Amino acid sequence: MSLTIASHEFKARCYALVPCAGVGERAGVGGPKQYHPVAGQAVVAHTLAALGAVARIEATLVVLSPDDAVFGQHVPGFEGAKGWVARVGGASRAESVANGLNELLVRGAQPHDWVLVHDAARCLIQPDWVDRLIDACEDDEVGGLLALPLADTLKSAAVGDQGEARVQGTVDRAGKWAAQTPQMFRLGLLRPALLLALSDPATAAAITDEASAVEILGHQPRLIPGAYDNFKVTWPGDFALAERLLSTRP
Ligand code: CTP
Ligand code: MG
Repeated sequence: MSLTIASHEFKARCYALVPCAGVGERAGVGGPKQYHPVAGQAVVAHTLAALGAVARIEATLVVLSPDDAVFGQHVPGFEGAKGWVARVGGASRAESVANGLNELLVRGAQPHDWVLVHDAARCLIQPDWVDRLIDACEDDEVGGLLALPLADTLKSAAVGDQGEARVQGTVDRAGKWAAQTPQMFRLGLLRPALLLALSDPATAAAITDEASAVEILGHQPRLIPGAYDNFKVTWPGDFALAERLLSTRP
């Protein structure tokens, strides 16, 4: 008797996970920056439209703060077969992502499936860049992230006598990259990596992206060249730049 198992049953699926539970303190717009309007829509609406156009993404899970009452107004019609929402945001980005991974498991994702974690605030993301990341990482042992080699000279800073910023020193920029998102790892690697890092306050404070948690386990994620446009809306002036770029796209 022969046992036939369809190969697609073993093919890893790709899920997107979008942490959207931050308060946006640095952006100074008086509320969470992901809901601030840019080119006619909330920041996160642009982000989710781009992820929704990536055919290989099975579903996108958005992690909201438990008391979020506005997501549905800003992204009407998002929830459905490919758009999932979980109100499980935590005190840090890493906690929001870890809680979102639990939700993906509940919804049937498997440890060998890929998760592409992408900041709600990176609203300039384009489907081709996500495809480029998937192409580069889907056969990799570890996974990887979009990133850019540093172009500017890098300074470390100290606070001067009047509270002003002053150069403390110049940091060698050779071989240094700025990490972006999406960051793509298998669920069965990323979840234990985040849980381990979060279990110790010293490492919990230092993991500002998924890769840093995976690195603690001794892995070397791939660096895939991203794009300058894929910046994270962070400071007050970033909204106008995002608006210019989004409104002049073909
Ligand atoms: N994020 C989250 N849960 C948190 C903190 C952040 O889901 N507890 C999300 C944010 O909504 C954002 C992404 O993680 O989409 C990247 O974080 P960041 O740019 O730092 O956003 P904020 O934390 O909202 O901004 P700030 O640090 O200026 O307060
Ligand atoms: Mg933050």
